[in-house]
Amino acid sequence: MSEIDGLGMKPANLDWANMGFGYVATRSHVRMTWMDGRWSEPELINEPYIKMSIAATCLHYGQEAFEGLKAFRCKDGSVKVFRPWENIRRMNNTADYILMPQVPEELYLKCISMVVRDNLDYVPPYGTGGSLYIRPLLIGTGAQIGVSPAKMFDFIILVTPVGAYYKGGLTPVEALVITDFDRAAPRGTGHIKVGGNYAASLLPSKKAKEQHYPITLFLDPETHTYIDEFGTSNFFAITKDNKYITPKSRSILPSITNMTLQQIAKDIGLTVECRPVNKAELADVKEVGACGTAVVVTPISKIVFPEKTYDFGETCGETLTKLYENVTGIQTGELPDRHGWLFDI
Ligand code: PLP
Ligand code: COI
Repeated sequence: MSEIDGLGMKPANLDWANMGFGYVATRSHVRMTWMDGRWSEPELINEPYIKMSIAATCLHYGQEAFEGLKAFRCKDGSVKVFRPWENIRRMNNTADYILMPQVPEELYLKCISMVVRDNLDYVPPYGTGGSLYIRPLLIGTGAQIGVSPAKMFDFIILVTPVGAYYKGGLTPVEALVITDFDRAAPRGTGHIKVGGNYAASLLPSKKAKEQHYPITLFLDPETHTYIDEFGTSNFFAITKDNKYITPKSRSILPSITNMTLQQIAKDIGLTVECRPVNKAELADVKEVGACGTAVVVTPISKIVFPEKTYDFGETCGETLTKLYENVTGIQTGELPDRHGWLFDI
């Protein structure tokens, strides 16, 4: 087995309960190509490699979009994908913004079904807390050397089994506020899911990890007055008067998990406010969470600014626990899917 390409891990050898969020090559990925104005038929490919021009626009000019969603093994043994319709809508927004062709929803759902079905034995068993992470990728593969969009694109979906993104599940983590870097520009690409946003977060994230902070919090890039989001997840908080608040900002990614939690929060009787959140408001909140497909709901124990630290306690709060139990309960079929969020494989 090679650690570099994640090859060689057979489902029988995987330690489902201790997976972490690493890459394990699975049996296949699905791929289709856009050329002359149309998509080819999707194909399953049994190796985790791609051959393309060395002048492909994804390599030189970052013409690429990616997504992240999960398939779950449910209590009744079935496998369900969580809210795939939202990911294709978001990916197509990204595609429009960086001049790539859209992927029709029906074709995308067909690709999801094909690749998940072909890798069913890589879906972690019910009760292990793991899931099959689904990573759609849309890339410019056509050759250009001037800065202009490609004429050829590949759409790929790879799948890989995952566990918790941060060790410890609902154990709170400490967040460092990044004040000397921005992950997105005020009128830039923070609201779409392009690889460049993550490249911009690698160095600040490395510096934070060196100081033992597993998670970074970014402020609005224009004024550094408002909270934007974490490096790989949205920010939300429960105020001392029991409101769910979450930032509205042009430079953050619209998180599907956040949309889900907002609905669940309303369902359990909380008031939800999606609006600019001033950093000074941290004094008025009792629980803070990071939310996203990979991190699910991760409680934050401390938010550390250069001049000040806000402390929210070392245990996961009551409301965050309730939100986590609700979302994971729906995903694994333990609670009813009242909003029609699950897609059957
Ligand atoms: N914000 C960023 C920067 C992310 O990378 C992600 C992950 O996809 C999220 C937020 C959460 O979005 P979602 O809940 O759709 O996974
Ligand atoms: C996700 O949560 O799906 C993400 O895309 C975040 C990260 C792993 C890049």
